Amino acid sequence: DDHPYIPPGPNDLRGPCPGLNTLANHGYLPRDGRNLNVSVIVDAGFNGYHMEADILGIAAKVATLTSRDPLSFTLDDIKLHGNIEHDASVSRADFITGDNVHFNETIFSVLANANPGVDFYNTTSAGQVQHTRLAQSTATNPNLTNTDKEFFIRSVESAFYLSAMGDPVTGVAPKNFVQIFFREERLPIAEGWKRSEVPINSDTLGPLFNSIAAQSNWTRGEGCHWVMLSP
Ligand code: HEM
Ligand code: MG
Repeated sequence: DDHPYIPPGPNDLRGPCPGLNTLANHGYLPRDGRNLNVSVIVDAGFNGYHMEADILGIAAKVATLTSRDPLSFTLDDIKLHGNIEHDASVSRADFITGDNVHFNETIFSVLANANPGVDFYNTTSAGQVQHTRLAQSTATNPNLTNTDKEFFIRSVESAFYLSAMGDPVTGVAPKNFVQIFFREERLPIAEGWKRSEVPINSDTLGPLFNSIAAQSNWTRGEGCHWVMLSP
C-alpha cells in the first residue's frame, strides 16, 4: 500500500470536508493539508476515489476564493463560512456554535442512525438526514442560512459520500464504510472497500443528486442571487 492511513500530526491542517481530510490522511493530498490548488485536488480525487474533474473541479475552483493567496489554499482555509461551508451539515455543527470544522458525533448521530434495520445508506436515507439536520438547525440557529446555494451544496455532498463509499450508480453505500469515512477520515480498505471501478462524474452524480434532493423535502428559506459556477 503506497497510500497508508496516517492520522494528522500536530502541524498538519485539516478542515470541514471529510472527503479531502481522508485524501490527506492517505497521502493523495499533501499530508500537511497545505499548498492545495485545483490540479492537486483533481488528481487526488481521481486517484483516491475515481472521481472525475467535471464536478470536483467546480468545488476546487470555488475553494480558491477562501485564501488570500490566489494560487493556493489549505484544508483549514475552506472552513470560510458562506463559500462552500454552510449550516445544517451532517457531521459538523453550525458556524454560530464556534466550531464548523471538527467532526461532531452528536450532529452525526442523525446520519449514523438513519435507515434502521438495514446495513446500507441510500438516496432516501440521505434525503431524510438532510431534512432532519435542517429542522434541527432551523430550531436552534437564528443565523441559519438556507438558500438554493446551501441546498445544492448539501445535496452534492450527500451524493459524494454515497458515491465515494458505495456504488456511484445505485447510490447504495455500506453503513460501516460511511461511518469509518466520517469518524476516522480513513478509507475502509481493511473492511473491504475498493475504489469504484465506475468513474464518479456528472453522469453518475446527477441522478443521485436529484433523488436525494427530492427526498429531502426541502423548503426554500430566503432567496438569493445565484452565481454561475460553470457554463
Ligand atoms: C463537506 C465529501 C471534495 C470542500 C463535505 C461533506 C462531504 C464531503 C460528505 C459533508 C460533510 C458534512 O455535511 O458534515 C467530499 C468528497 C470529495 C469532496 C467525497 C471528493 C474529493 C471537496 C472539494 C472541496 C470540498 C474538492 C473544495 C476544495 C468541502 C467543504 C465542506 C465539505 C468546505 C464543508 C461543508 C459543510 O458541511 O459545511 N465534503 N468532498 N470538498 N466539503 Fe467536501
Ligand atoms: Mg457546515
